[in-house]
Amino acid sequence: MAARAQCFGRSVVPTVRYSQAHSPKWRPVSVLDEWVAREARPISLRQLMVFGRSLTESRLLSSANYVRTELPTRIAHRIRDMQQLPYVVVTNPHINEVYDLYYTAFDTFRKVREIKTLDDNDRFCKTIRSMLRAHLTVIPKLAMGILESSGLMAPADLDKFMNTILRSRISRRVIAEQHLALTETFHAPWFFPGAKLSESEFIGEVFLKCVAKDVVSRCGNAVREILQRAYGPDVRLPEIRIDGHLDANFPYILSHLEYIIGELLRNSVQAVAEKHQRRKDKDTNPDRPPPPIEVTICESHQHVIIRISDQGGGIPREILPYLWSFSKGPASGKILANLGKVPKMAATMQELQLEEDGGGRLDDHHSHENRSTSIEGGEIGRDINSSLASLSSRPPNLRLGMGLPLSRVYAEYWAGSLALHSLEGYGVDAFLQISKLGNKNEQLTTRATMDA
Ligand code: COI
Repeated sequence: MAARAQCFGRSVVPTVRYSQAHSPKWRPVSVLDEWVAREARPISLRQLMVFGRSLTESRLLSSANYVRTELPTRIAHRIRDMQQLPYVVVTNPHINEVYDLYYTAFDTFRKVREIKTLDDNDRFCKTIRSMLRAHLTVIPKLAMGILESSGLMAPADLDKFMNTILRSRISRRVIAEQHLALTETFHAPWFFPGAKLSESEFIGEVFLKCVAKDVVSRCGNAVREILQRAYGPDVRLPEIRIDGHLDANFPYILSHLEYIIGELLRNSVQAVAEKHQRRKDKDTNPDRPPPPIEVTICESHQHVIIRISDQGGGIPREILPYLWSFSKGPASGKILANLGKVPKMAATMQELQLEEDGGGRLDDHHSHENRSTSIEGGEIGRDINSSLASLSSRPPNLRLGMGLPLSRVYAEYWAGSLALHSLEGYGVDAFLQISKLGNKNEQLTTRATMDA
C-alpha cells in the first residue's frame, strides 16, 4: 500500500517557502496552504449560459483562466479535508489512491500559466481532458474506501466528508466540461465570434430547455429496458404514468437530472416488480399487472417538483436510518460481503460506467437521442448524446447503496432537494425539487443532510 509515507510525503510541505521572510513573525507556508486560503468562486447555471451565449475569443480565454485557477483551488480544499481524516481512514488503499490522483491534478493545474492565446487554451484543454479521464475511477474508489472505513469514524463525519468531496467533484467537472464544450463550439466550422445560440438547445453542457416529462419518460424507458433484460421476460414490470404540468421546463445539466430520475425510477420499478413477483403465487388473479408508478410534475413560480410514487412495499425499517448514508453504518459489512460475490472487476466497471458525472453515455440501444445544438441560422456540428443515468445500468444485485445519497448530492448541488417518504408496507413517495430559474449558485458546501 502506498500508505501514509507517500500520502503525506507528497502533501504536507511540497514546496516550503517563507512568507514575509524578513518579518520576525514569518511562518512556513506550503503551496497547498496558499491555495487552501483562496475561496472558490461559485457560478450559477445562468452565468454559464450567459457566458457561452455570445462567445468570443476573449470570453473563451476568460473562461479558461477561471477554470485554470478554480480547479486547483477547489482540489486544494479537498486535499486538506483528506489530510484531516484519521490516519486509518486516509491510509485506506482506495482513499489513498484518490488522494494521489487529487495531488497530481492539483500540482498539474496550479502550474499552468495564464492562458493568453488560443494555442495556450488548446494545450490546457488537452490537460483537462486527460485529468477528466484519469479521475473516472474516483467514485468507485471513494465508495469502497468509505464502506471499508465505516466504524472507523463517526458516521455523520464520514458522510459529511463524502458529501463535500462528491459535491466538489461534480463542481469541478461541471466547470471543466463546460469550458471544453465552449472551446469545441468555438472551433466548430460554422462558428463565428459572437454567434447567438438558439433558445432551445445546449450552451456548452447546459440544456436550456429540459422538459421534465421528456426526461422522466426517457429515463423510464431505459430503466425498464435494462431491468427487463436483467430479470428476464417472465417478470412483469410496472408501467410508468406521468401526469401534472407536462410542459414544465427549465435550464439544467441534463446528465445530472437523468442521474437522479434514473436512480429513483430504478428503485421504484425494482421494488414494485420484486414485490409483485413475491405476491403472484398468492394472487387469485395471477395475470394482474403490477401497480403502476405514478409520476406527478408540478411547476410553481421558482421550482419544478417531481413526485414519484410507487407501491413497492416501502423501505424496510432496518434500512431507513442509513438510507442517505454513504458509509451505511452496520450495513456496510453486508454490502461489502455481497460485493465480494459480484465479480470485482465487473462491479467496478459498472459503477464507473454509471458515474461519469451524472452518468456515462447510454449505449445505442437505449433511448438516447442524438441531439445537435443549433445556433440561430445554423446547426452546431456536434452531437450530444443523452447521458442517461448510468447507475441504472448496473445489475439488480449490485448494490453499493450510493444511488440515493449521490442523487441527493446532485439535487442539492443546483440548490434543489430530494426527500423520500416511506409508507411502511405500501410504497414510497420520492420528491425531487428543482430550482427552475437557473439563478442559484452551485452549492459547494454541505448542509447536515443525515436526516431520512
Ligand atoms: C475530478 O473528476 O475529480 C476532477 O477533479 C476533474 C478535474 C481534474 C478536471
